Amino acid sequence: MFSTNFLTNRAVVFTSNGDPMKVVRVVSFPNLPPPRPKSVNIRYILSPINPSDINVIEGVYPAKPEARADLAQVGPGSAEEPCFIAGNEGLAEVQEVGEGVGGLASGDRVVMVKPQSGTWSTGANVGEQDVIKVPKIGRAATISEVQGATMSVNPPTAYNMLNNFVELRPGDWIVQNGANSAVSAQSLWPGFSSLENELKELGATHVLPLELLSDRSARSRIKEVTGGANIRLALNCVSGPTTAAMVGLLGPDAHLVSYGAMSKRPLLLPTSAFIFKGLTAHGFMQNRWYRENDLEKREELMNELAKLMVTRKLREPRHMILDIPRTASDDDATSKVRDIIEKVTSGKGMFGRKVLLRFEN
Ligand SMILES: NC(=O)c1ccc[n+]([C@@H]2O[C@H](COP(=O)([O-])OP(=O)(O)OC[C@H]3O[C@@H](n4cnc5c(N)ncnc54)[C@H](OP(=O)(O)O)[C@@H]3O)[C@@H](O)[C@H]2O)c1
Repeated sequence: MFSTNFLTNRAVVFTSNGDPMKVVRVVSFPNLPPPRPKSVNIRYILSPINPSDINVIEGVYPAKPEARADLAQVGPGSAEEPCFIAGNEGLAEVQEVGEGVGGLASGDRVVMVKPQSGTWSTGANVGEQDVIKVPKIGRAATISEVQGATMSVNPPTAYNMLNNFVELRPGDWIVQNGANSAVSAQSLWPGFSSLENELKELGATHVLPLELLSDRSARSRIKEVTGGANIRLALNCVSGPTTAAMVGLLGPDAHLVSYGAMSKRPLLLPTSAFIFKGLTAHGFMQNRWYRENDLEKREELMNELAKLMVTRKLREPRHMILDIPRTASDDDATSKVRDIIEKVTSGKGMFGRKVLLRFEN
């Protein structure tokens, strides 16, 4: 048993896959020992809750965090009951540097290179190669904590999908669903018309509720707006039947890039789109891009995104921060985390906001 004075760290853990409202809990654990050689101790500043984090806990996502034997001493994590810390993305600060670490110093802001690092936590010991410094652009220009915490998943996904499938030129058109998601627009709306205004302010030309996609008058309105242009790129995070309707808006030789299935429905596309219009359908996964590209390419992409952020071409997602106070018991913290996961999963009361966890420590 540890004295509570030493239990200054916390993490959201699960020991089996299932309904996050039942399987996640918050545990406290002792101070980290000094970092091993070639490793650093980091303190997480902000860690988002992304849809894929929920899927990892449910066990329906093709990625799994490593089991954490080091937590066995505080309860979960025995050989019989492996324990995992949730969370893939986050912004952290280097606190202590181990022997032989070259490129990192105490105080550096970093994001994770290693997927499923267990970012829903106060801190961790990580290999120096498992994190990458957040770029600074120019002398003083820097990005916000929220932008740093959310820069590894959604912005690069959007950037790569826009750049790697179709060569877009000024004046070209693209169509996307889930346009109010963090990947798409990073937007908040209390009703459709304010959502529409906000998306237009971010650069959308025409905004339609999904249900109207197959409506004739809506489709002719789109033709009018685009002047009948050949739309060659469609981005899909919803899947299900409405995506077939979106594909109907595309011109010849277009590309559909699917990166999510928020509707939890299969993607059913009309065969005619392939035969008569030469449609090409792709899947995109940012993690695969990270696996297939070296660290230098990753740094280039991060720099590019940071430049877009400091010039305000890429804004921080609309968000809310869930603070877990140091004084909250593990049970209270567990309730808070479960409540917010329930809201994120149902979408109720979230108004499109990305939730970020912040543990006081
Ligand atoms: N492949 C990749 O590399 C990659 C990278 C990043 C994200 N993603 C995926 O992209 C998707 C969006 O991620 P995010 O972080 O942007 O999430 P987010 O900000 O939480 O946005 C979720 C979006 O999904 C919509 N949605 C939820 N349930 C829906 C349903 N039943 N039918 C239609 N639309 C629904 C929401 O619309 P309402 O608010 O109107 O419900 C919202 O636009 C997720 O599937 C995520 O896993 C994939």
